[in-house]
Amino acid sequence: MSTQERIVSAFQQHFSTMPKLFFSPGRINLIGEHIDYNDGFVMPAAIDKGVWFAVAANNSNTANFVSVDLKETYSVSLNEIEKKDSWKNYVLGVLHVLQTNNISFGGFDCVFGGNLPVGAGLSSSAAVEGGLLFALNTIFSFGLNRIEMAKLAQKAEHSFPGVNCGIMDQFASLNGKKDHVILLDCTSLEYKHFPLQLEKYNIVLINTKVHHSLASGEYNKRRKQCEEGFVLLKTKFPEAKSFRSISPKQVTEQKNLLDAKTFDRCLYVTEEIERTQLAGKYLQENNLIEFGKLMFQTHAGLSKLYEVSCNELDFLVDEAKQHSSIIGSRLMGGGFGGCTINLIEKDTTEATVAAITAAYQQKFGVAAEVYIMATSDGTYEIIAN
Ligand code: GLA
Repeated sequence: MSTQERIVSAFQQHFSTMPKLFFSPGRINLIGEHIDYNDGFVMPAAIDKGVWFAVAANNSNTANFVSVDLKETYSVSLNEIEKKDSWKNYVLGVLHVLQTNNISFGGFDCVFGGNLPVGAGLSSSAAVEGGLLFALNTIFSFGLNRIEMAKLAQKAEHSFPGVNCGIMDQFASLNGKKDHVILLDCTSLEYKHFPLQLEKYNIVLINTKVHHSLASGEYNKRRKQCEEGFVLLKTKFPEAKSFRSISPKQVTEQKNLLDAKTFDRCLYVTEEIERTQLAGKYLQENNLIEFGKLMFQTHAGLSKLYEVSCNELDFLVDEAKQHSSIIGSRLMGGGFGGCTINLIEKDTTEATVAAITAAYQQKFGVAAEVYIMATSDGTYEIIAN
């Protein structure tokens, strides 16, 4: 049974109405990590793995949720939306943000589940938040556009889940386009869909199976360190509106102004902002070899300066460097576990990945999972033919 069929059948078991169906994708990010909240540029794409929703209004004042994957149900009165625990905070966060923005809705029944590995850095939380918002926007006719929904979904993640994330994940999930990446300016939210012409390469994710958890507080800590670093740098560069107008050279010149960790964070951010601009140029020139080199550089920065890697991720990237068929590799997403993203020659993908996962198994005693990625459109309603 496909995931979509499981969701529909669970809805029929629990409720007697006809729901509308939706798909909300996870995302990958080619380059531009931890700079969405630092006014940088990112290059995400929505993927064909995600979360399916079956949702119908129920003419009551109660929201009923069924998580098919976790086999849990939860009902809440719309007058009593407050922070709870685990997955409930993702859906309750959405309802809370709608209420605080005076967007009114009635009770509804919602069954959801998917095929995104949780904690793998593929944004399952953004897929849930954006998907629920999109479904409610359709059912209760809020009239929100996709950018407004991405902003609200980001606020939902800030609220009850408590992760002060940037806009990338929610934006990519809602605004993706099949066979394209999104070149997103995180300051203005101007974006362009750029065709992904990888020709002889695959995008391959290798999952360390180390469960990354942004809520652990490290993510919010990085964000705070960058904010503090910027305030100090601004005393020297008063005209700078954001990290975008400060170069790595200028950060280095101000080394004495910053404590060692804050210096490293700010250096990484300014380098990554430069790298992503160059990466955008290489992508548009179809120069994937140079693009891939930048991916390796990003990993080095994320590992040494931003300190969001772990032994398992570093091992996978070091192994990748041993294979000439891999032209780029780095940790993807928030870090502290999850996946590496790799550009691997199609012809040799299978053999290369087998060698890397065997080495990983030997070193850590864990079977890494491998996903060859395909892109998808952003969140959409599935209309039955
Ligand atoms: C998480 C956050 C994003 C982004 C990435 C790192 O996925 O949700 O906003 O900051 O980490 O690039």
